[in-house]
Amino acid sequence: MANEKITQIVANALEKIKASSIADELVELKNTFLGKKSELSSMTSLIGTLPNEEKKSFGAAIHEAKEKISVEIEKKLAIFREKELNEKLAKESIDISLPGKDAHVGARNPFHVIIDEITDIFLGMGFEVAKGPEIESDLYNFELLNLPKDHPARDMQDTFYIDANTLLRTHTSPVQARTMEAKKGEPVRIICPGKTYRRDDDDATHSHQFAQVEGLVIDKDINIGHLKATLELFAKKMFGEKREIRLRSSFFPFTEPSVEVDITCANCGGKGCNICKGTGYIEILGGGMVHPNVLKMNGYDPDKYSGFAFGIGIERVAMLRYGIDDIRKFYTNDVRFIHQFGKKN
Ligand code: DAH
Repeated sequence: MANEKITQIVANALEKIKASSIADELVELKNTFLGKKSELSSMTSLIGTLPNEEKKSFGAAIHEAKEKISVEIEKKLAIFREKELNEKLAKESIDISLPGKDAHVGARNPFHVIIDEITDIFLGMGFEVAKGPEIESDLYNFELLNLPKDHPARDMQDTFYIDANTLLRTHTSPVQARTMEAKKGEPVRIICPGKTYRRDDDDATHSHQFAQVEGLVIDKDINIGHLKATLELFAKKMFGEKREIRLRSSFFPFTEPSVEVDITCANCGGKGCNICKGTGYIEILGGGMVHPNVLKMNGYDPDKYSGFAFGIGIERVAMLRYGIDDIRKFYTNDVRFIHQFGKKN
């Protein structure tokens, strides 16, 4: 009788297990058929009422029934779990043929790249890097460079004045005076890259803010040959071994003689083209032998010392080097412009 009941319970359980469609149902069935309050569990308490010879087999039958139901539930659960896992894997599958996300890497403005390159070239020739303020006094920006008040050459360098004696420096040349002051009569070999400002109409080749690299060498027996050799080496390192330079006479109040330095046009190699306006040359900087007045005013005896100086327009060099056609591009922070140079550096 009792065994029949057990068989019935097992059959019922197996049917329900078979019919189950989700794992939760099985957990419930486990509770119904194997839990403390299940029929099989309550039948266990009947063992005590049975005659001794039946006790053992009845107990074994209940145990066997529970075991069977449990095994079937676990089997089916394992099937559900595997199905669940497969579905999850299918959903999370990665298409490795898709292109990856490009990591966003910033790029340096070519303006800074070129300053580093120019600096490297001059460091290689034994120059030191000097610095000076962008808000400068009339004294350093003009007076100590042989540009007294009312000197006509000041007209070319109108700038932004903070008060009558304080201005945004118009060139990096005041660093010449500041360095001579600091070196107190000792030899000098410096460059100074930095920002400069002028009142100017902004167009493709002019900007109210631009930058220069100043150079100054003072020692005994310095002559114009040293200036030429230094700038020739610079031009070849910056623009290529084939570049030649040409010195043209010019005027700057702080140098005598003064020169303007041209390089052979990279585009036509000196034959003449539209880039060099048919001349075969492109101007890159101004320079000259330091004027005796400048030496004297800044504590050097012009009978014992001589020197040369130069000022290079940084944007001009970068524009020639990279083929950039508008100076304003350096300052407008257009990432499309800047990124073109990022990969090279
Ligand atoms: N300061 C000049 C300018 O801005 C450039 C220059 C010319 C600098 C000759 C020099 C130099 O040191 O010797 O136009």
